[in-house]
Amino acid sequence: MIFVDACFNKPTPYTPVWMMRQAGRYLPEYMAVRQEAGDFLNLCKDPEKAAEVTLQPVDIIGVDAAILFSDILVIPLEMGMDLKFEKGEGPVFSDPIRTQKDLERLKPNAHERLTYVYDTIKIIRERLADDKALIGFTGAPWTLITYMIEGRGTKTYNIVKKLIYTEPELVHALLREVTEVVKLYLEKQIEAGVDVVQIFDSWAAALEKPKYFEFSWNYMKEVASYIKSKYPHIPIIMFPKGIGAYLDDIDGDFDVFGVDWGTPMALAKEKLGDRYVLQGNMEPCRLYSKEATKECVESLYETMQNRGHIFNLGHGILPDVPVENAKYFVDLVHRITREK
Ligand code: CP3
Repeated sequence: MIFVDACFNKPTPYTPVWMMRQAGRYLPEYMAVRQEAGDFLNLCKDPEKAAEVTLQPVDIIGVDAAILFSDILVIPLEMGMDLKFEKGEGPVFSDPIRTQKDLERLKPNAHERLTYVYDTIKIIRERLADDKALIGFTGAPWTLITYMIEGRGTKTYNIVKKLIYTEPELVHALLREVTEVVKLYLEKQIEAGVDVVQIFDSWAAALEKPKYFEFSWNYMKEVASYIKSKYPHIPIIMFPKGIGAYLDDIDGDFDVFGVDWGTPMALAKEKLGDRYVLQGNMEPCRLYSKEATKECVESLYETMQNRGHIFNLGHGILPDVPVENAKYFVDLVHRITREK
């Protein structure tokens, strides 16, 4: 599998490429299936339909890997929290965790109730071509507990950060509980058939450096070590978004570091390129223009040609990107990296 080889820094005939959020609203085919499902959560819980939308970007755009269609928030959902996706607002929990008492309300063994995810993986792996990889994923414990505590997206993170500075033991207790679920959840995804796993730490940049390592990276590393010790053949991708200034202290037992678009690839290469394959990092809005896309693909290729690299965006693709441009990006990466 070219994608898995690239994750392990083995030679490949071209540089593989995929896009974060590649199964989603920019594809009319996705919108049609979501409409049939009724809403987003129903779609996540319907293995047949979730498998269908997972495979769409492989068939339509030609990416080298499929990413499981689901959401990071199915973990708190199955820990017993009340999750709704509200129009124009995104995810909302009506019963956020703010106290020790709230924490005690969480149900154990969430990984055992996420069977619809494992069923989806089995269907995808049956239908996906043998040379294409299937990426499983989880949210990082920190990003998950931010949603669980805040109850919704936030600009200031004031509720969770107040707890960090006033009741750090409570935050660590919640992180511990979520970390255990995350380990077992990834393990079950691997047993069901994913070839690679990615840990999304979307809210990494909310924390100052020492607190980032204490409340997020250490837990991500613990998850990675656990998975590596049991499944050394499964590549692990870490994607902490927005911590370009903390790269000096990044270490751990993983294979690929996902570089967000705000971190210059040359800087990531200098700090991490000898130890990890780098994934990324085109600014997603470049997809609005073919010229802007071409300029970036060429420059990333120049920067990374003597290092392990997987092409991707530096965060998720946006819903109003023309499908044609996404396809142009993927074709161009294949063409340029194959030719040279
Ligand atoms: O294609 C893929 O990447 C696979 C599927 C995937 C989704 N969410 C589907 C989705 C993945 C990997 C995620 C991860 C996820 N979910 C993250 C981490 C990645 C990141 O972008 O930083 C986060 C923070 C979430 C939480 C979440 N889910 C939010 C904030 C939202 C609303 C976002 C928005 O743009 O409206 C979601 C909903 C969601 N998850 C959608 C999709 C396709 C849109 C739902 C819809 O169809 O309306």
